[in-house]
Amino acid sequence: MNGIRRAFVVLSHAGPLTPDFPLADLPGSAGRLDILCRCATEAFLLSHGIRRDVLLYLVIRGRLLIRLDGRTLRYLNPDERSTAALLRKAIAAVQGKEGPEWVPSTPGIHARWGSLSDVRAELEGGGHSLYVLEEGGEFIRGMELPPHVGFFLSDHKDFSPEERELLGDLPKVSLGPHSLQAQTCIALVHNELDLREAGWVNV
Ligand SMILES: C[S@@+](CC[C@H](N)C(=O)[O-])C[C@H]1O[C@@H](n2cnc3c(N)ncnc32)[C@H](O)[C@@H]1O
Repeated sequence: MNGIRRAFVVLSHAGPLTPDFPLADLPGSAGRLDILCRCATEAFLLSHGIRRDVLLYLVIRGRLLIRLDGRTLRYLNPDERSTAALLRKAIAAVQGKEGPEWVPSTPGIHARWGSLSDVRAELEGGGHSLYVLEEGGEFIRGMELPPHVGFFLSDHKDFSPEERELLGDLPKVSLGPHSLQAQTCIALVHNELDLREAGWVNV
């Protein structure tokens, strides 16, 4: 994965598998798609620009995968509604396409049917060291992190037993003493890595 240094995988437990939801009801009929939209904002958007070295995977109900790739991503704006429209297009693109191939949607966004283990295998194949973001994990500040990292996190619900089983062997990382919103976790990981790269904190 040339040029990608940071990856995030958000596990959505109620998100939509079909595109027939109104953009006006993201928390309701779209199954908390608002959370995934905010995660996309935090994963990619700087004040004036896009973090190009980031991948974001959304795993919806363990079956549908959406991948946003900062290297080629376009049309991502800070508002949730337009992000939801991009995700809805990606969901529409895979309807009736059951194979394991990534289906292109708008620039930088692909979707496919698949599982959490498919995402894990793709990231490991790309040389990423993987971690699970968990309230009870080891505080990130003291941890040595390699240059290519990937972090799994959950949405508004806890990890399911199956997800814990699939990710159980990965190191658990905590960002602080409170249980935080998913998008906040992405922002804090970026900031920690930014601080290290800028030499503002030394580990
Ligand atoms: C809103 S929380 C999930 C719900 C919460 N675990 C609960 O018990 O209801 C969203 C996710 O962000 C991550 N997270 C939240 N707080 C964190 C922290 N302090 N350190 C690391 N990850 C955290 C975890 O992956 C968590 O599952």
